[in-house]
Amino acid sequence: LVAGIDSSTQSCKVVIREAETGKLVRQGRAAHPDGTEVHPDAWWAALQEAIEQAGGLDDVAAASVAGQQHGMVVLDENGQVVRPALLWNDTRSAGAAADLIQELGGGEKWADAVGIVPVASFTLTKLRWLARNEPSNADRTAAVCLPHDWLTWKLSGSTDISTIKTDRSDASGTLYWSAKTNQYRPDLLELGFGRLIETPEVLGPTGIAGHLPNGAPLGPGAGDNAAALFGTGAAPGDVVVSIGTSGTVFVSAEVSPDDPSGTVAGFADVTGRFLPIVVTLNAARVLDAATKLLGVDHEELSRLALTAPAGADGLVLIPYLEGERTPNLPDATGSLHGLTLKTSDPEHLARAAVEGMLCALADGLDALVDRGAAANRVVLVGGGARSEAVRRVAPELFGLPVLVPPPGEYVADGAARQAAWVALGSDEPPAWTAETPEVYEATPVPLIREQYKRVQPR
Ligand code: XUL
Repeated sequence: LVAGIDSSTQSCKVVIREAETGKLVRQGRAAHPDGTEVHPDAWWAALQEAIEQAGGLDDVAAASVAGQQHGMVVLDENGQVVRPALLWNDTRSAGAAADLIQELGGGEKWADAVGIVPVASFTLTKLRWLARNEPSNADRTAAVCLPHDWLTWKLSGSTDISTIKTDRSDASGTLYWSAKTNQYRPDLLELGFGRLIETPEVLGPTGIAGHLPNGAPLGPGAGDNAAALFGTGAAPGDVVVSIGTSGTVFVSAEVSPDDPSGTVAGFADVTGRFLPIVVTLNAARVLDAATKLLGVDHEELSRLALTAPAGADGLVLIPYLEGERTPNLPDATGSLHGLTLKTSDPEHLARAAVEGMLCALADGLDALVDRGAAANRVVLVGGGARSEAVRRVAPELFGLPVLVPPPGEYVADGAARQAAWVALGSDEPPAWTAETPEVYEATPVPLIREQYKRVQPR
């Protein structure tokens, strides 16, 4: 047996699967506080609870932790957490991101150096914010790591900051490690934070990050998007679109996309390749907000949306409810365009919410294709994919067949598959059979995106 863990923005999931076949044996789940600033102890408590619910880890032969990316976990020299982690969805470091771009001489310099361009989500911008705004916390900081690194380290029982490990996928979202050269850029860490601090060793695909109390190895773990790609078993030409707290659109690739505009980030995957990705801050929560506005549940929201015509008779919802990262508009707000007597009803508003959220992701798909990604099919995952309306409207916007695998824990599954790879010691990862997806044929309706583009802020 192997364990896969997903510590996401809102909760912790644990799956226990058979190493050779991938058969699900047990699982557990526990919520932790969400928001944009959370103390890592809350993730640890949720992990303990989820492990207990999953029947413990005593009988597993390996475990791996995947988690929300980019969160800044800062530790003092004794391994104590200095302050609550600033998470990927915290936009307070937007000014720091703009400064860093300028200080290095533009987005192309960053894309060239580390394959990504600063936005508030990325770890180094948060370190810069800390140095400028909380000098005493910055002074106490001896090490920085990411949420999944910290949890792996805690599971290993170590308290020594020099033993923390990470993996390529998550290191590639920090701005101070390059997936292209597989090396740290201490000069960039120093540029951002003002001095060098301890950073985790970056392990290869089956590197060992420590051991559980029963002696089982801990795999390198992964950022959640890379784990999801691995967990869905996506084939070349499959674009994964995940609708969770964040909206993400990504593929597996042999080369880094090197996008100087920063729209496509050149992360690494868990197999030694790359993972070009576009990320929006507003995804499943746009649907949540629409249910609140309309006073309905998700099922009713979906039913209402499917009652209105495609394009909602010109009603367009711009979904930047938490500011936005792609496009990079951290201070933007959401807006409604095209309100008329005809469109002022729950059906049109529900449809506009679903379309607006998906338009932002369709823009992401276009950006990936512009950067050379092969896109034959969309694989739709995440909580938002449970909405019937999302599944039916998605092919109208993506213009590609949309495959929806059965609801599952694809991030935790990806971590479990990595753990199985570590446990089996094979050259290639185990080929677990994927469950049969539902398929929605491509039915492009260009009008929806045309009217969105006309009012979209830039
Ligand atoms: C990726 C990103 C989000 C988080 C969500 O760049 O910021 O997808 O990983 O957990």
